[in-house]
Amino acid sequence: MATKATLRVYRGDKDGGDFKEYSVETYPGMVVLDAIHEIQANDAPDMAVRWNCKAGRCGSCSAEVNGKPKLLCMTRMTQYAEGEPITVTPMRAFPIIKDLVTDVSWNYEVAKKIPPFKPRPKEADGTWRMQQYDIDRIQEFRKCIECYLCQDVCHVIRDHDKKTSFAGPRFMIHLATLEMHPLDTVDRRDMIKEEFGVGYCNITKCCTEVCPEHITITDNAIIPLKERVADDHYDPVRWLLRKVGGGRKKEKPSPK
Ligand code: SF4
Ligand code: SF4
Ligand code: FES
Repeated sequence: MATKATLRVYRGDKDGGDFKEYSVETYPGMVVLDAIHEIQANDAPDMAVRWNCKAGRCGSCSAEVNGKPKLLCMTRMTQYAEGEPITVTPMRAFPIIKDLVTDVSWNYEVAKKIPPFKPRPKEADGTWRMQQYDIDRIQEFRKCIECYLCQDVCHVIRDHDKKTSFAGPRFMIHLATLEMHPLDTVDRRDMIKEEFGVGYCNITKCCTEVCPEHITITDNAIIPLKERVADDHYDPVRWLLRKVGGGRKKEKPSPK
């Protein structure tokens, strides 16, 4: 006999809204995005949901299931207790556009502020040489699919709305990718401290827990960035070197 699941889906826009309940017939392998598509097909063709790949690659179906940030296309219905309603809501950290779709454009604005990769000149033989260790260290950060689930769960953004002071975990890994790149020549440490607010992170690791790509955001990106900033600003020897202009190997970004 077919099993039914109840979904409580948030319906609304910037002016407000409420939950509506839908009953969906489940099948083996069904994910929450499938259930939302069933609802669109049978009960609510105007329900808004953003998705693209249905394979956990594009990062566009981010929302919250039972209050936890999730990719809807990678969240199996079977992980929720049978007979209990499953609540689906838009990401709470970003302004709602409609139903499950949020406006994540703040993230694009943060991305634009980060000085881009600027490699040192090539060697005399026309090549660049790097240590494999340096490549391996940043490789995991490149798996990011920009789903912004880490931004959504981070209490600095979600609960304290410090979007003007803190860039958030997704951009901490981007900054770490650039800072740790063996060829990069730009020194972003002042920006990481001041403009991107690394000090706001109190290492709760919630971002790492929700990352669908299992990037070790806190331990491998944020803590090393904090250490670099602390060394640079609070180590008395480095502080003195900075004052006399000898403490940095990279260039400061030029003002825009
Ligand atoms: S570890 Fe830092 S960046 Fe990650 S969720 Fe916690 S406060 Fe936010
Ligand atoms: S770091 Fe992980 S959770 Fe954050 S945007 Fe990238 S893939 Fe998504
Ligand atoms: S639809 Fe692409 S990640 Fe879910």
